[in-house]
Amino acid sequence: MRILIPAGQAEADLTREYSYPEVPPGQRWLRANVITSVDGAAVDAAGSSRDLSGPADRTVLGVLRRLADVIVVGAGTVRAEPTAYRGIRPGADVQQRRASAGQAPAPKIAIVTGSLDLDLTGPPFQDTRPMIITAGGARLDRIARAREVADVLIGGDGTEVDPAALVTELVRAGLPRILCEGGPRLLGTITAADLLDELCLTVSPRLAGAGERARILAGPAGLPGPPRQLRLAHLLEEDGFLFARYTRPPSPAAPTT
Ligand SMILES: NC(=O)c1ccc[n+]([C@@H]2O[C@H](COP(=O)([O-])OP(=O)(O)OC[C@H]3O[C@@H](n4cnc5c(N)ncnc54)[C@H](OP(=O)(O)O)[C@@H]3O)[C@@H](O)[C@H]2O)c1
Repeated sequence: MRILIPAGQAEADLTREYSYPEVPPGQRWLRANVITSVDGAAVDAAGSSRDLSGPADRTVLGVLRRLADVIVVGAGTVRAEPTAYRGIRPGADVQQRRASAGQAPAPKIAIVTGSLDLDLTGPPFQDTRPMIITAGGARLDRIARAREVADVLIGGDGTEVDPAALVTELVRAGLPRILCEGGPRLLGTITAADLLDELCLTVSPRLAGAGERARILAGPAGLPGPPRQLRLAHLLEEDGFLFARYTRPPSPAAPTT
């Protein structure tokens, strides 16, 4: 994979390119990783992002997963792509690197759902115990059933998970390096709450075609104020796929008097 920006280096060391910044105690770094077609679609005609992807995209996805403490995903994506959320089993070398970084052997998978309408016998629950993040207003019988196969966290009191409470619960659980893999509605909620620190955006060299297609963000109205400025940290390329890493620009220094 070659580095287009910043210029001057030829081959990308993906682990270095995507390493998380230092996260101070009690804080988090919330990174999202999503893919879009050239014409801005997050979903292909079959209702999944699978046909937008390719080997280079899957390589980046694997690196991002190996670096994270937790992979957060909306229930809609799990229902559309259940096998993508089987438990993750990194190899011995990755486990060793994670241990030296103070991380558990594998990232946790955390599924966000208000309804808890999930197939609790499906691939994400088969040989691992994921987390389920739901809201205080969720049905108690479903919470009890989910607790048999998953660690359930409650993110806020309403019927929807409050994204700020979601992040607080993950930090409290010792999982501050967060990778959100979407989908559009979960990422829309997180973005509307202005919690996104980094967006890893893959542009797939494909046209999805006209028609009603989700963008990478959906759901609640966007950020207050004008469009948010992001900083391009790098741009990589392989097989016509572009991998852009955008970060939140540093907050302006407090004025000194
Ligand atoms: N292009 C990409 O990179 C990409 C990435 C991921 C997914 N996708 C595609 O996107 C499609 C799914 O889209 P989607 O918008 O439905 O995905 P989604 O955000 O994964 O799922 C939406 C569901 O997640 C739960 N959810 C999200 N935010 C919540 C909140 N704040 N509180 C409580 N529950 C919350 C709800 O589940 P309940 O209904 O259970 O309450 C909601 O119905 C699939 O076709 C998938 O393949 C594309």
